[in-house]
Amino acid sequence: MDRTTELAVIDEIADLLARGSTAMAPDVAHVPFTDLVGSERLRAERAVLFREYPLVIAPGSAVPEVGDFITEDMAGLPLLVVRGRDEQVRVFLNICRHRGNRLCGEKSGNRRVFSCQYHAWTYTREGACRSVVDGDGFAGLDREDYGLIEYPAQERHGLIWMLPQRGGALDVAGYLGEDLDAELSGYLQHTRHAFRSTHFEQPFNWKFGVNTFQELFHLAFLHKDSLGKSFISNLSSFRSYAPHQRITVVRSTFPDMLTLPEAERSLFPHCTIVYALFPNVILTWQLDHVELWRFTPSPSSDDTCDVGLWLLTHQVPQTDKAQQHWERNWDIVSRTVFDEDFATMSNIQRNIRTGLLDEIVYGRNEIGLQDYHAQITGALRRYETPLVG
Ligand code: FES
Ligand SMILES: [Fe+2]
Repeated sequence: MDRTTELAVIDEIADLLARGSTAMAPDVAHVPFTDLVGSERLRAERAVLFREYPLVIAPGSAVPEVGDFITEDMAGLPLLVVRGRDEQVRVFLNICRHRGNRLCGEKSGNRRVFSCQYHAWTYTREGACRSVVDGDGFAGLDREDYGLIEYPAQERHGLIWMLPQRGGALDVAGYLGEDLDAELSGYLQHTRHAFRSTHFEQPFNWKFGVNTFQELFHLAFLHKDSLGKSFISNLSSFRSYAPHQRITVVRSTFPDMLTLPEAERSLFPHCTIVYALFPNVILTWQLDHVELWRFTPSPSSDDTCDVGLWLLTHQVPQTDKAQQHWERNWDIVSRTVFDEDFATMSNIQRNIRTGLLDEIVYGRNEIGLQDYHAQITGALRRYETPLVG
């Protein structure tokens, strides 16, 4: 974020603070429960949001060295993500071209080649089929045509992006738009090291995971004994970079910062910036680290999602003190988001899934939720996916 934008956001928050208000939508929004949960809706979301849009898979620092790999599932797409000899990150289907076995069963590691357990076909880090073992048995088969299936991928702003369409054109900068692309470029220095990561399944629709971060007026209630004390209740600024968003949450130190001369004013450490990257990623940018959250529909269930979380820092901890500092940060995230937010989202999922509530309501101060819902509804309408089967 450049200085001009930073000062503009500070002014915007100062104005809200003076008026005792927060960013507001024009009206209250009513959302039918069928827009949130249920098999039909999820089928459309999988088909459109997770097959037509660029997706963030992981931070680039999850595979820092040549030969480093991770395996991920993106809403039913099993992926193998590898950094090749040329230092490029490539994204492959994690499926052997012989008879379709899963190629790599580990979550992460480093390899020179990937060898299928079934009949030992091997593939290079760049996805080429290196050997089919019994050459006679496969005489006439051109190995060149049997490399791993590759998706368009790009590393940008410290994130690994893919387009889940073979042969499609991935343009991350264009997808983010000029303003957001410029803002995010400042991230890179904060994301060089993946301090810790975790993956787990949660019993709620993937959108509820994203929603967790899109309004912060619950801080004073749900998190009153934890994070809530550090923030000013029901005060945040909102900017749409349709379909993406930026939500700036304000810490209780902000008013004191405002008394400083303009040259000394800063957003950090007096705010936390939340970016929602459409459709399913949240970046929370604190002073010295970034949390990357990724929510995807589980491949096997309509009522659960897979959550990936990475805590990213600018470098490997250099001292015990630094290590402890990051451990503490990790604990705070675990305690508040897992125990408080996600437990609540599980309740909401259970209750909404009963169909006993016809609709839910997004307040004017839940502008992030309103905008996100409008973006999703608009995307599904635009593609008008045939819902067959
Ligand atoms: S299925 Fe992979 S080598 Fe046969
Ligand atoms: Fe929360």
